[in-house]
Amino acid sequence: MKQLRVGMVGYKFMGKAHSNAYRALPMFFPEALKPEMSVLCGRNQEAVAEAAAQFGWSETVTDWKELIARDDIDLIDINAPSDAHKEIALAAVKAGKHIFCEKPLALTLSDAREMLQAAEEAKVAHMVGFNYRFSPAVKLVKKLVESGRLGKIYHFRAWFLQDWIIDPDFPLVWRLQKEIAGSGSHGDLGAHLIDLAHYLVGDIHEVIGMSETFIKERPIAEQMTGLSAKGSKDAPKGPVTVDDATLFLARFANGALGSFEATRFAAGHRSTNSFEINGSLGSVKFDFERMNELEVYFTSDDEDVQGFRRVLATDPAHEYAEAWWPPGHTIGFEHTFIHEMLELTNAIREGRQPQPNFNDGVKCQAVLEAVDRSIDERRWVEISEM
Ligand SMILES: NC(=O)c1ccc[n+]([C@@H]2O[C@H](COP(=O)([O-])OP(=O)(O)OC[C@H]3O[C@@H](n4cnc5c(N)ncnc54)[C@H](O)[C@@H]3O)[C@@H](O)[C@H]2O)c1
Repeated sequence: MKQLRVGMVGYKFMGKAHSNAYRALPMFFPEALKPEMSVLCGRNQEAVAEAAAQFGWSETVTDWKELIARDDIDLIDINAPSDAHKEIALAAVKAGKHIFCEKPLALTLSDAREMLQAAEEAKVAHMVGFNYRFSPAVKLVKKLVESGRLGKIYHFRAWFLQDWIIDPDFPLVWRLQKEIAGSGSHGDLGAHLIDLAHYLVGDIHEVIGMSETFIKERPIAEQMTGLSAKGSKDAPKGPVTVDDATLFLARFANGALGSFEATRFAAGHRSTNSFEINGSLGSVKFDFERMNELEVYFTSDDEDVQGFRRVLATDPAHEYAEAWWPPGHTIGFEHTFIHEMLELTNAIREGRQPQPNFNDGVKCQAVLEAVDRSIDERRWVEISEM
C-alpha cells in the first residue's frame, strides 16, 4: 500500500486539525504512507463543500453511511461529537475500514468495550485521539521515566484548566449536554490527563472524586463549533447536564499517588494542560501552553547548582524534532496531530496496532466511569470493579 485513502466525518475544530495533519504529513515525513484526502462528510452540502475546498478534500458526501459503503476508502476518521462515535465506528470496522476516532472514545464504558471488541474482531487498525502524547516534550518525559532517570515514581499531579464557559450566559453547546458529550470537563479535559497518566506512569488502581455543575441552565445556542458559540442571553434556557469541574485522587498500581483536576471555570486559564511527575531521582514539569519546554530536576546534580532546568525539546535528540526546524525553532498544537497521523500511518503500513488505540480509549473510559461512581457512592472505587 503506497497511499491511504481517507474518509473523514466532521470538519470543524478537530476536522480542521486532522485535515491539516493529513496535508502536512507527506511534506515533513516523506517516508510515511501518504494519506489521500478522498472524501469529507458533513450534513450540510453547501457547508461541507466549502470546507472540502478550503482544506483540500477531493469529494464530499452528506451521509456517513454513504462514506462507509464506498470501497475506495481505507480509513474512516471520526471528528463528530462523542454521541456519534460508536455507530460510525461499528459500521466502519464492519466494512473492514481502519479507524481513527477522537476522544473520548464513547459515551459509556460499555459502548467503548463494544467498539474495541468489534475493531479487534474485524482485525483493522484502531486509534484514539489522545494527541498530547505526541508533544516532543511529553515523549521526553516518557523516555526519562522508562529509562529510570527519574527513579521510582511517587507522584503524578495534573490539571487541565479552561475558562471558556465562565460567563453564565454562554450558550448551551453540545459539550454541556450529557446525551451528546457523555460528560463535561471530566470526559473532555480529564480524559487527556488520564491518558497521559496511563502512558507515563501506568495503570490506575483506585480513584475517589468530586464534581460540580456551577451553572445549572443556559440559553439555547444558535450556532456552535469547537469551544465557541453564538446565541442571545434572552433565548429560552435549557439544563446543563454535565460537570463543570471534576477533581479526583488516584492510587496507581505501582504505588504512585495521583491528583487530577479538570475545570472550565478557572478564570484566566485559556487551556492550561499541565502535569508534574516526582520520582526518587528527579522531577519533571510540563505545561502545554509552553509545549516546547520541559522543566527537569535531577537529585544527582551538584548541590550548589540544583534546581529545575528548562529543556527546549527541539534538538535532534528529541523525538520528531529533526523533521521540523533548526533547534530552537518551536512547534505548536497542530504538530501533535501530524505526529499522531505519522503513528497511525506507520502502524497501518507495518501491520501493527497504533498507540494509543481503542484499548487505551477503554482504559480511559473505565477511569472516567469509576470516578463518576465514586462521586455517586461517596467512596473509593477500584478500576477492576468496572
Ligand atoms: N484531541 C483533542 O484535543 C480534541 C479537541 C477537541 C475536540 N475533541 C473531540 O473531537 C470530537 C469533535 O469535537 P469538535 O470540537 O471538533 O466539535 P465541533 O462541534 O467543532 O465539530 C463537530 C463536527 O461534527 C459534525 N457532525 C456532527 N454530527 C454529525 C453527523 N451525524 N454526521 C456528520 N457530521 C456530523 C458537525 O457538523 C461538525 O462539523 C469530540 O469527540 C471531541 O471530544 C478532541
